[in-house]
Amino acid sequence: MGPLPVTQLLLALTSLTVALDNGLMRTPPMGWMAWERFRCDIDCFDDPENCISEGLFRDMADRLAEDGWKELGYEYVIIDDCWMSRLRDEQGRLQPEPSRFPGGIAKLASYIHDRGLKLGIYADMGTYTCMGFPGTTLDKIEIDAQTFASWEVDYLKFDGCNSNPVEQMLGYPLMSMALNATGRPMAYSCSWPAYLGGLPPSVNYSLLGDICHLWRNYDDIQDSWDSVQGIIEWFANNQDDLQPAAGPGRWNDPDMLIIGNFGLSLDQARSQMALWAIMAAPLIMSNDLRNLDNSARAILQNKVAIAINQDPMGIQGRRLLQEKSHIEVYWRPLVHSASALVFLSRRTDMPYRYHTSLAKLNYDAGNYEAYDVFTGSTVKGLNATTELTLSINPSGVVMWYVYPEQYKEEAETLVQQHMKAPFTFHKAKALHHTVL
Ligand code: GLA
Repeated sequence: MGPLPVTQLLLALTSLTVALDNGLMRTPPMGWMAWERFRCDIDCFDDPENCISEGLFRDMADRLAEDGWKELGYEYVIIDDCWMSRLRDEQGRLQPEPSRFPGGIAKLASYIHDRGLKLGIYADMGTYTCMGFPGTTLDKIEIDAQTFASWEVDYLKFDGCNSNPVEQMLGYPLMSMALNATGRPMAYSCSWPAYLGGLPPSVNYSLLGDICHLWRNYDDIQDSWDSVQGIIEWFANNQDDLQPAAGPGRWNDPDMLIIGNFGLSLDQARSQMALWAIMAAPLIMSNDLRNLDNSARAILQNKVAIAINQDPMGIQGRRLLQEKSHIEVYWRPLVHSASALVFLSRRTDMPYRYHTSLAKLNYDAGNYEAYDVFTGSTVKGLNATTELTLSINPSGVVMWYVYPEQYKEEAETLVQQHMKAPFTFHKAKALHHTVL
């Protein structure tokens, strides 16, 4: 490789603090992304319903808009790898594969915008994408950012296959500036840390927070409990490095929600939703919204779990305890002195009766109530020393929304709203600002 383009590096490093301060993503983004469920299926001849094509994204936009998702905050429709033509056009611009996207991306963007949704797209900092489509080398960053803006894209996932750490150190900040320079507010998801092992000192999380809205820290999710459990474990084991990096406008991304696919039981699906809410993770589903069973829908549309995920303080939660019994306790502080508790069983035998109290979980003396997020029952008349027995299913969770009794009325309003369907996005927003 030739000498470092030092001037570019300095330019990048000195402009970082203003690079992406565009006010987006004060709470974790929510939406749908193609990758985990639909991968790189480009065979529209044999598999027209499921191949990566404009029809798939229009279908998912229809479902988000018509089946109550949008009102809950699920607003991004995100294209992943394999949308591109193998060749750039004569002006050097990326272009979609014409047989699968005959209308082009701008037309798809307007279809999505017409339904009150936003469009995300995928590119790769490197010579090729992970699946071998044209990459964005350093010299192509500006033109690609401009192309995406000209199509009215709202979100970029910038992957990092086929590049080295020096190119990544230059490319990720440069793309941030190039997106800003277009004048179009675009969210910026960086896969950079996942290519560096996800931890300091290789990863500089304060720099990432300045240039990206969210970032992939760790391995790709797969359709299995093993994969989900591995991700939860890695994030919890490294929480001292990861948890402080998150906040409004800057989120760790443990990858897509796979609820509604083939690999998780009902309990495991609840566990993923619960832990993603604790982790202040993006709620980006990768499933087939055209064929979703009612239990998956109920978990993904659980308003209290969503309100916990979207809490306006934006403080990522932590694992508090790892018991010898293989029960783990997670906690996240929420506005108005409320909090979320998740009791996760990593056992493989039978429901475990776990004995604890709020005092043992560091709660102050006082009177509390707890709403059980997945069963809908309320535990009243608690104080910090009340002895509790919780029954936690193997690979399942009990998830509690806990609030001091003096905020009871507000909390009950939130919970009642959860029981009623549907209610509008605007009301939902107002609700969690005034209530939680
Ligand atoms: C990487 C990313 C995935 C997905 C694929 C596409 O593995 O981490 O999320 O985008 O590339 O090829």
